[in-house]
Amino acid sequence: MVTTSHKPRYEQVLKARELARELGVEYVSRRHLPEKLEEEKVDFYYVVEAGGKLVIKWKGGELFFHPSVAKIRMKNLKNGGRDYLIEALKLKGEELVLDATFGLGSEAILIAAFLPKGKVIGLEKSPHIYRVVKDGMSRYKPKTKWIEDAMNRIELIQADMKEFIREAYEDSYDVVYCDPMFENPKYESSSMNPLRPFASYDRVSEEDVKQMLRVAKKRVILKAHKKDSLFDRIKVDKVVGSRKSGVLYGVIEKR
Ligand SMILES: C[S@@+](CC[C@H](N)C(=O)[O-])C[C@H]1O[C@@H](n2cnc3c(N)ncnc32)[C@H](O)[C@@H]1O
Repeated sequence: MVTTSHKPRYEQVLKARELARELGVEYVSRRHLPEKLEEEKVDFYYVVEAGGKLVIKWKGGELFFHPSVAKIRMKNLKNGGRDYLIEALKLKGEELVLDATFGLGSEAILIAAFLPKGKVIGLEKSPHIYRVVKDGMSRYKPKTKWIEDAMNRIELIQADMKEFIREAYEDSYDVVYCDPMFENPKYESSSMNPLRPFASYDRVSEEDVKQMLRVAKKRVILKAHKKDSLFDRIKVDKVVGSRKSGVLYGVIEKR
């Protein structure tokens, strides 16, 4: 179902009604939400908040767009820390990067910050994650210039990357980045927790990576947890990352 926050403005109600129509679900006025939730078995519901912000709520949490992790990683870099993804990408600043598994877009924002003349194309398979993140990115008003600039260099598309890369032209992106859901989830990584119920858990196959390499001009970067099977199943040129955090990036150079 779709509802609004308390005491909604007219535009919020309109947006909630429109979204309910689009999703083919019921619009419920906020006053009637508690009884609806008691009456019916609702896995999750959309809330149109003030300013039109979209949030998905369920018993265990809520999903909305926020570039918090990108901010933390940029702060770390500015303080002289390392970022293994940024190092592995080896960007010059004018590349076209395909982020095949966009999620909340935190890494895409960070990547786009290093592309003053480039662009990130993001793909997200889950319609719910796509909707919340696409809407959130268009509504979010960054207080920081680098986030604003980075977000302006991102285009998000709802697509299954497996189909998308098979249809893409050879060498059509400089770098392809793929961060599938870990086989061994890091539950303490709270930034991923909100998208877990809605995410697609597709496994990356050898043929997928072959296609990524065909589509990439320079390199393919894959992310996995150290306990995952990805780097046992797929041969990469090198693995970088922190063994302590367990987050690894596999780099395959295009020859
Ligand atoms: C671990 S998250 C990516 C997190 C992202 N790097 C970030 O910084 O927010 C993986 C995302 O990829 C999406 N996904 C999984 N399989 C996909 C596929 N075949 N095509 C496109 N997206 C996919 C999931 O729904 C999920 O949102």
